[in-house]
Amino acid sequence: MAADSLGYLLGRGAPRAPDRDSLEAWGRALGAVLPRPVVITLEGDLGAGKTTLVRAICVGIGVAAIEAVTSPTFSIIQQYDAPRGPVIHADLYRLRSDAELEMLGWDELVEGAPVLLVEWPDRAVNTLPRDTIHVVLGHDPENADRRLLRIHAPTMR
Ligand SMILES: Nc1ncnc2c1ncn2[C@@H]1O[C@H](COP(=O)(O)OP(=O)(O)O)[C@@H](O)[C@H]1O
Ligand SMILES: [Mg+2]
Repeated sequence: MAADSLGYLLGRGAPRAPDRDSLEAWGRALGAVLPRPVVITLEGDLGAGKTTLVRAICVGIGVAAIEAVTSPTFSIIQQYDAPRGPVIHADLYRLRSDAELEMLGWDELVEGAPVLLVEWPDRAVNTLPRDTIHVVLGHDPENADRRLLRIHAPTMR
């Protein structure tokens, strides 16, 4: 399997306990080979590195305004322009109800977005496609500079 293929990056090529540089390098490589459409969820506590990884993925995708890729404080949904179509970045941390999700036009976003990256996806898990790539990040109890990375994804080439 080619070292830069999606399947490799999601499997043996995914670092287990990356420092920030390795996590970002992996995210950029992943962003560069993502299929369209694609949904990626990012789970993990505050500070686990979800937004850091989203930003790296966006760099790999080719988002030019990379400084715009932050944890949205007031908006739940942000959109970034990229060469092969827009990237939607959702952070559902502040979502208060399913009704609010509906008001955001969530189902249309899920169906229509070429790339959808979702932090705090718990609220929306039922609405996501079966081939969603689930990324889980956690603090490494043994090393504050590293994060534990796990991926649950359908088999992909
Ligand atoms: N190995 C690592 N991977 C990702 N972030 C790290 C790592 N080590 C330290 N950090 C820091 O942890 C913080 C993660 O913040 P952020 O990505 O906003 O988390 P989240 O979106 O999960 O709340 C950043 O300040 C980042 O620099
Ligand atoms: Mg965040």
